[in-house]
Amino acid sequence: MADVVLLHAFPLTSALWSAQAASLRVDGHRVWTPDLRGFGAAALGDDEPSLDRMADDVVALLDAEDLDRIVLGGLSMGGYVAMALLRRAPERVAALVLADTKATADGVDARAGRLAMAQRMDDGEAPASLVGIMIPALLGESTCRDRPEVVATVSGWIRSAAPATVAWAQRAMAARPESLTALSAFDRPALVVWGEEDVVLSPRTEQDLMLDALDDVELAVLPGAGHLSAVETPDAVSGVLRDFVAAQERA
Ligand code: MLT
Repeated sequence: MADVVLLHAFPLTSALWSAQAASLRVDGHRVWTPDLRGFGAAALGDDEPSLDRMADDVVALLDAEDLDRIVLGGLSMGGYVAMALLRRAPERVAALVLADTKATADGVDARAGRLAMAQRMDDGEAPASLVGIMIPALLGESTCRDRPEVVATVSGWIRSAAPATVAWAQRAMAARPESLTALSAFDRPALVVWGEEDVVLSPRTEQDLMLDALDDVELAVLPGAGHLSAVETPDAVSGVLRDFVAAQERA
């Protein structure tokens, strides 16, 4: 059975992966879905913003749990952290799942937008003010139209985020380097998962760059899902993860 670690998106928590963790456990795998620092139950600490610190936290978890090599997955920001871990400790990654994420660094405008959001949090704005702009980017048009309960759940998660964490994580993401080089050096199996309606935050062009960089990779395209595929089409994401992890077992 495999040891699987799944990292969540911004500005959410480990709850993002609830359905997938449960279904992988049914198959007998051991699954960890840590809250990244500042999110959910995890303390933010006082380090300077950097996704490398989140990756270090994950490596510390692996050490504490005596996990030598894992199947590592991340959705969006969780994918950025997974790629940071890949740069720092590639020997710990037996197989990689990149869901609705990208391996390029931010352009000038994206970086400026992140720093502006961080400043708004510093100035006392609440994450609740982000719901209106974030929901159409995070959720696909099918979910926005047909799944009000998912819209309500994700909106609640955004409102629950701590302003200092939102600011810290945005500065950390703004500073992240490109990861295509690390993906090119990775020669073990990888799975790219993409919600077909993820047209704003991690569009298909970004998926193609990761697919080109990776050596041993398969792509799962999920109709009806946007950026937060794990909560928009949870059964479909669970299915592709279960198949991928089972294939690693047989290899
Ligand atoms: C996420 O879903 O983790 C973030 O929206 C990613 C990002 O802002 O690049």
